[in-house]
Amino acid sequence: MPEITNNPNLDSIRIAGTGSYVPEKILTNDDLAKRVDTSDEWIVSRTGIRERRIASDAEATSDLATNAARKAMEQAGVDAEELDLIIVATISPDTFFPATACYVQRNLGAKNAVCFDVSAACSGFLYAMSIARQFISTRSAHKALIIGAEKLSSMVNWEDRNTCVLFGDGAGAAVITRAEGGDSGVMSTYMGSDGNQTDILVVPGGGSACPITPSNAEQRLNTISMQGREVYRYAVTAMRGACDRVMADAKLKSEDISMVIPHQANLRIIDAIRERLDVPQEKMFVNLEKYGNTSAAAIAIALDEANRTGAIKRGDKIVLVAFGAGLTWAAAAIHW
Ligand code: COA
Repeated sequence: MPEITNNPNLDSIRIAGTGSYVPEKILTNDDLAKRVDTSDEWIVSRTGIRERRIASDAEATSDLATNAARKAMEQAGVDAEELDLIIVATISPDTFFPATACYVQRNLGAKNAVCFDVSAACSGFLYAMSIARQFISTRSAHKALIIGAEKLSSMVNWEDRNTCVLFGDGAGAAVITRAEGGDSGVMSTYMGSDGNQTDILVVPGGGSACPITPSNAEQRLNTISMQGREVYRYAVTAMRGACDRVMADAKLKSEDISMVIPHQANLRIIDAIRERLDVPQEKMFVNLEKYGNTSAAAIAIALDEANRTGAIKRGDKIVLVAFGAGLTWAAAAIHW
């Protein structure tokens, strides 16, 4: 399977600050049960999700991203003009072009940054981390802002109970700098892809393959289509493999890990990964009950919450692992 793994000869990078933002509006399972044939009991028992956030009409993905970015920059003590790289991971960009990262650049006044988006669905934030790592550890860039941001509510079919209960809106961000001495930093990163599985999780319409027309808009081809069971099966296998790889590269054993921050899609998937890693439940960071699956934003929001609530502390060894459409998967091992 195509994959890009660790280069141990690179300079070390660290996460200097994290931030996150979720919209105010809460949509509960009971709210959804008024729209489609579902129930709080079904959703909680199959996924663990209890509610999700929904952005207002006035909020675009770049607005969510900008709010998260400001918090990460404040924590890192980094001004907008110091940034030389902004990467936004998203599958719900403000527009096909320009990149959402350019809107964020404008919002922040980050006039010295090079900006682009990454499309790797739920693995996007970790893809962005790997990319930023290459630029910073080779000293091509010095202060990078990576963001996972999604307004998935804009591409959900609200009449499809198979998908509409799963997704939500939000953004998370991190400022990445070179690690100046000490042990802390990103120890290993890993990315994988399998383009043979493009069909099992896809928005089929709206792109060049199927431009939107009134008739296919009526068929909701511009919304998320998913084969849930297939996705589930691949997700467990790929995330387990990704954890094994970053832990081996970082020379970490299960007992060394203080916290695993997995993609927040489904509690049962998280449990399956936990069993493989053989870590206790309290070492799996879970917040999906509040936000659902926010794709590229999920790990970024979880990382920020873990950081700000003290669930992860300086010196901890943590593993981040994600899986998403593409298919894509990715992981990182970090000495916090
Ligand atoms: N409420 C009530 N019933 C629902 C429902 C809902 N929201 N969604 C689906 N169902 C029904 C199905 O129609 C099916 O009914 P049927 O047997 O009469 O056809 C039944 O529940 C079982 O569906 P199934 O797909 O077998 O359930 P599942 O146990 O696999 O759970 C998912 C469904 C989507 C929760 C699960 O497959 C999953 O989480 N997959 C991964 C999705 C994911 O993580 N995507 C993002 C990856 S980044």
